[in-house]
Amino acid sequence: MNIYETRRLLDEYLLFHYGADHEVLPWAEGPQSALRFAIRTVTELADFERNPQSALDLGCAVGRSSFELAKHCQKVIGIDFSQSFIDAAKSLITGELAYDRLDEASASTTLVARVPADCPCDGVSFEQGDAMNLREDLGSYNLVHAANLLCRLTDPQRLIERLPELVKPGGQLLLTTPCTWLEDFTPRGHWPQGSTREWLHQVLGEHFELSLEKDLPFLIREHARKYQWSVALGSSWIRKS
Ligand SMILES: C[S@@+](CC[C@H](N)C(=O)[O-])C[C@H]1O[C@@H](n2cnc3c(N)ncnc32)[C@H](O)[C@@H]1O
Repeated sequence: MNIYETRRLLDEYLLFHYGADHEVLPWAEGPQSALRFAIRTVTELADFERNPQSALDLGCAVGRSSFELAKHCQKVIGIDFSQSFIDAAKSLITGELAYDRLDEASASTTLVARVPADCPCDGVSFEQGDAMNLREDLGSYNLVHAANLLCRLTDPQRLIERLPELVKPGGQLLLTTPCTWLEDFTPRGHWPQGSTREWLHQVLGEHFELSLEKDLPFLIREHARKYQWSVALGSSWIRKS
């Protein structure tokens, strides 16, 4: 059973990606700097001076980062394995989506997700797909973004091997990972042997040059009084020519 197909996770990710700050975290003393993660993985890691025309967002979930990328890129494709996440992202291109935010126990509040008016939707498309087995004719992009995807794959090496083909020479690869390796998602034999950071340097170094590393805290709300606060390791890489 894929948890990313459940209604609970769909609601949680719609809030994570589209909830206003006060809707996610109604506590002034809470970790405000961890809000808006799906926006920050783009704004804090991308170099838009390089003028990327096209972007691929792998593990896009319900799509907020893809819409953020569309502010700068004419064409954006978001791909996720979860059909229900992709259906939600697609429906947000043309309209709003109501969802339930858990407050506590069986108390919840209905909220509405919508794409911010300053994110153009015309060049954005979404499709269901497997980041470890992407379609052959996917092409290559000026920017590839994969936020918190690697440690949710059964075999991350399969995506790593496809990346040099997906990123155009001189293009950007934006990765984040909370380094939360779990046997529920990834067999232990496919975990990095040491630190995830060192593993990334090893497996990407031949085809990519590191341009930036940054810690990116993020907050996932379980209910009004319980949150997961994590710190993703963010990195930005340039595809060698
Ligand atoms: C931890 S979430 C991160 C979502 C989003 N990028 C973010 O940062 O909010 C992991 C996402 O990867 C997706 N996913 C898991 N396995 C995948 C696969 N094999 N191919 C594509 N997406 C996958 C899940 O459906 C989920 O949307």
